[in-house]
Amino acid sequence: MTKHILLIIGGGIAAYKAAELIRLIRKSGMTVRCVLTESGAQFVTPMTLAALSENEVHTTLWSLKDEAEMGHIQLSREADLVVVCPATANLLAKMAGGVADDLATTLLLATDTPVMAVPAMNVRMWQHAATQRNIEQLRSDGITVIQPDEGAMACGEYGPGRLPEPETIMAEISAMLVSPSLTAIGTQSTELGHNPLDGQPAFAPDRHRPLRGKHVLITAGPTHEPIDPVRYIANRSSGRQGFAIAAAAAEAGAQVTLVAGPVHLTTPAGVMRVDVETALEMEQAVQDALPADVAIMVAAVADWRADSRSGQKIKKKGAAPAPLKLTENPDILAGLAQHEKRPGLLIGFAAETENIVSHAEAKLAKKGCDWIVANDVSGDVMGGADNSVHIITRSGAEIWERLPKPEVARRLIAKISEELA
Ligand code: C5P
Repeated sequence: MTKHILLIIGGGIAAYKAAELIRLIRKSGMTVRCVLTESGAQFVTPMTLAALSENEVHTTLWSLKDEAEMGHIQLSREADLVVVCPATANLLAKMAGGVADDLATTLLLATDTPVMAVPAMNVRMWQHAATQRNIEQLRSDGITVIQPDEGAMACGEYGPGRLPEPETIMAEISAMLVSPSLTAIGTQSTELGHNPLDGQPAFAPDRHRPLRGKHVLITAGPTHEPIDPVRYIANRSSGRQGFAIAAAAAEAGAQVTLVAGPVHLTTPAGVMRVDVETALEMEQAVQDALPADVAIMVAAVADWRADSRSGQKIKKKGAAPAPLKLTENPDILAGLAQHEKRPGLLIGFAAETENIVSHAEAKLAKKGCDWIVANDVSGDVMGGADNSVHIITRSGAEIWERLPKPEVARRLIAKISEELA
């Protein structure tokens, strides 16, 4: 059955790539109808889009002709998929806020068809907390948000924010429109996942976003336990593995809360980050983030904190200071296992240098979690680029070969997705 795409083109320099996307959609045998925003029309003309799509191009909410012939609600629903490309920061903000002040945003609010947004913007705009908040909101609303590419941008800056190549976007569109026998997911779909016009099931579960609608809570990095205003107890955790897991979870469509100890790492796209310093702050932030479907405690939480913290810098007096008195920190993972809002899947990490499986099995029982990801830290894992892990569950142990941390993250998220399915 022929699939129909409604393509909403926002106002950014990447709009020219939408013309190529239309050509690819047509080539794949699908039909495409374009909606051009007022600012989109500053970059591409309705004439170009009409010629390529072989369809009328819609630009205004106030077209008597359109309202008489089909109406904007119907226009929003007759498609199998609505694609917003390029999705500008402004368009994403309006979508996240439910604003409907032109044809594009009105259609997006009125549609019960799955929506894919393909962002493109300046790197600073992409990284801005407001944009990241909007993306997280859109993902939890069930909208598929594609990760932008990283590279040189038209504005002369470098970083994430580039529109992916049209071939990549086309592959994402095809992936969302797979087997017609499966049902839709996402809050924007009809209840039964049927195309309202022909009554046929329209969408497969999103294989590319298997964690859509799930809240994943992650801790990462070390904690710093102050001794006085300038000194603290710390450890060598870089936070890289936890941040990679947060990125992989967001890519899988999850709503992600990342409680991060003091690290200098960029927040992955679409992730809600809460910065903390101490174990006590991390414990509070984790509890504030509940409920969660999955919790992955990757942080290397300091086992002890100074019993009391000096308000002033402790001065050298020509002799050793009084011995530092330490107090044990709460075990955040064990506390979560006992919590009334215990996440359905609770995963801990363990850094081991010997007897990895037996030590990890003991930790699984002691902490009351469901899985332990045990790292062999006998080499250069802490702070390094690779990781060598064992996954210990109640049904046994799996050994993964040494892999780059982002790959460990992707595999772990794939395993979690399978478990939840
Ligand atoms: O006991 P150990 O530090 O080896 O346990 C590691 C696991 O427990 C990790 O998942 C870590 O994030 C978590 N943990 C915690 N709170 C602590 C200590 C460890 O959540 N105070």
